[in-house]
Amino acid sequence: MREITPRKIMEMKGKEKIAMVTAYDYPSALIADKAGIDIIFIGDSLGMVVYGEPNTLNVSMEQMIYHTRAVAKAVKRALVLADMPFMSYEVSIEEGLRNAARLIQAGADAVKIEGGYDHKKLVKRLVRAGIPVMGHTGLTPQRYLRLGGYRLIGETEEEIEEILRDAKALEKSGAFAVVLEFVLADVAKLVTEEVKIPTIGIGSGPYVDGQVLVWHDLLGIYENVPPFVKKYANLGSMIQLALEEYRTDVKEGKFPEPKHYWEFLDKEEFEKKK
Ligand code: KIV
Ligand code: NA
Repeated sequence: MREITPRKIMEMKGKEKIAMVTAYDYPSALIADKAGIDIIFIGDSLGMVVYGEPNTLNVSMEQMIYHTRAVAKAVKRALVLADMPFMSYEVSIEEGLRNAARLIQAGADAVKIEGGYDHKKLVKRLVRAGIPVMGHTGLTPQRYLRLGGYRLIGETEEEIEEILRDAKALEKSGAFAVVLEFVLADVAKLVTEEVKIPTIGIGSGPYVDGQVLVWHDLLGIYENVPPFVKKYANLGSMIQLALEEYRTDVKEGKFPEPKHYWEFLDKEEFEKKK
């Protein structure tokens, strides 16, 4: 079992902020785990950032399983959380249970679903079956067509009520945490005060129990990131520079150098690294 468990995440509320980040493959997960991230999350955002889709609606269970396997192999310390993709838990509770189990069998420690109040029964059944669940309210990207796009949620009384109702239903059904995506900071604060389970915000201000960001956004792999993201690096341009240098070296015959081929390479080093 990994060091960080859902129980530990729950105990962090009010004591220590929870740091969560997405990762979709083995090397990324290895780095995130070494960095001491608490929750490494295979989000269905992979549809957009890894597969180039305009939204998350085409992500399949097979894709989620495939990426969960790769991440799970790398992580020793952090909690490994896998997203349930669009329509993998909406049709029936039975289908939701079976699909969640597939993610657990692929190496996840817990699953995340979008919604709260509407999925009370599913959450209860998952928890009863031994599968820890995180909920997700506010902006729920799998419902972006109905929501009318990726927009701030919680400006009307009705939406605030819905967010609160979702968070409370999740707590009551046994979920161990809830993501609050793109809601007003004051609404996120209210929810954080009203429920005993940790709230993890994205674009929802500072008054929450933790933060989550998408790997590619945080590391600046693309130029364009949502305005609520802090870019901690500019890996996109770093990678481009490295590749341009490589291309130039190849074109100009500067790579490989003698030390890179057998006749001249350091045989001792080679044996060590083999
Ligand atoms: O899929 C994802 O990356 C997410 C986070 C933004 C919470 O659901
Ligand atoms: Na998601």
